[in-house]
Amino acid sequence: MALWGGRFSDAPTDSVFALSRSIHFDWRLAPYDLRSSLAHLRVLQSSGLLKADVASKIEAALRELISEVASGKFEPAAGDEDVHSALERGLTEKLGEVGGSLRAGRSRNDQVATDLKLFAIDHMLDIAQQIVNLQEALISKAQEYSDAPAPGFTHMQHAQPILFGHEIAKHVHAFARDIDRISDWLNRTSVSPLGSGALAGSGLGLMPEVTAQDLGFARASANSIDGVSDRDFVAEALFIISMIGVHLSRIGEEWCIWATTEFGWAKVADAYSTGSSIMPQKKNPDMAELARGKAGRLIGNLTGVLAMLKGLPFAYNRDLQEDKEPLFDSIDTLRLVLPAVTGMIATTNFDREKMLAAAPQGFSLATEVADFLVRSGVPFATAHDAAGKCVAICEAKGVQLHELSDADFSGVHTLLTPEIRSSLTVAGAIASRTTIGATGGSALSKQLTDAAAETKALKVKISTQITAFSEMMGQ
Ligand code: ARG
Repeated sequence: MALWGGRFSDAPTDSVFALSRSIHFDWRLAPYDLRSSLAHLRVLQSSGLLKADVASKIEAALRELISEVASGKFEPAAGDEDVHSALERGLTEKLGEVGGSLRAGRSRNDQVATDLKLFAIDHMLDIAQQIVNLQEALISKAQEYSDAPAPGFTHMQHAQPILFGHEIAKHVHAFARDIDRISDWLNRTSVSPLGSGALAGSGLGLMPEVTAQDLGFARASANSIDGVSDRDFVAEALFIISMIGVHLSRIGEEWCIWATTEFGWAKVADAYSTGSSIMPQKKNPDMAELARGKAGRLIGNLTGVLAMLKGLPFAYNRDLQEDKEPLFDSIDTLRLVLPAVTGMIATTNFDREKMLAAAPQGFSLATEVADFLVRSGVPFATAHDAAGKCVAICEAKGVQLHELSDADFSGVHTLLTPEIRSSLTVAGAIASRTTIGATGGSALSKQLTDAAAETKALKVKISTQITAFSEMMGQ
């Protein structure tokens, strides 16, 4: 059903209709459109624009549509341009002419911005909840390996020994920042566009602050032109999703490396691996690869929307219809990736012996030589140089640092006494690093306890927000 046409003598051509249509992707906004229609109906009634008996008929029809949309009984028809036209058709089919009453004081411009905001809030809360699940999986995997030494890398080269739980736990903090970004975004997004009308506000004495409250927003748009033009919330949500995607892709890359035959650290569970159609022996970490690959598409959606918004005059322009598919796609993509990565992490086992054996390789204890000299009062630059010389002797002799002779050590620096060997152990190197956030002593277990407590608090906060949103939707 068309929502316009009074001043036109010709109907749109097929190509015009085909290009204009958005119903095939915006239909998923229907529950939010119906809910904001209920809020709009209430202000139309309280402003005296709709009599109580008419308002209650419309309310009953809207509630019927809510359940018919949910059950699939009411569906978009071939001639419906978008979700708003389809639902107005539904109301008119039930109520006749009265079904058109809700359009008073409202435009698709403020309507679509409101619907999309409600959709985005609903789904970003769900994403936050899924991230907490992922954090829980990371924390328990980190706890499981909180006593397992492994080499730590910089430049993909052995750097210093660490505990493998420390390696896993780092991801919890990246995702904590993502949840923080979502909560920050929620505060900024909590502004209702409904009541902005086409762009200039409503002349019918409606109360945007009342509909805002009804829909759970903190306030109404302070400028109606901005109200219908603002898609910052879409771009920001796409950035947050891209950042999450980038974090997931870095996990994916690590898992791919750790699962190689050369590393042989990660044993990815069969249920989270896939095989090859030709090579019977293959067990591929496809979930990790897809986590890495999907990030590209998430970034693409973000840049697509930013490019669409760039230079766009304020107030509604049809270009804005291009905001939806990228947002839907990014949300859908992330909701596919998150549970798969969470399951993959929870079910991967790591080879403690291999990691332990690799920990001192590549002269990863060289910093201990330098630190030993520093503790005896040698300036670090001199100590660094001496430790480097020890490594050079090791390379020439084909031995590890602890295998150097007393003469080798004292030849490099007189203060390199035989006691140095007690520092040249993986356990000693790990135990000596006890500062906040470090790998040794009680630092890692404190980090994990704190992270578990924070995650638990976030879980409660997010589920309270989810309950409040679904209660609002049910009113
Ligand atoms: N389908 C449109 C969109 O998604 C709805 C708003 C149309 N408004 C208009 N003035 N043509 O943006």
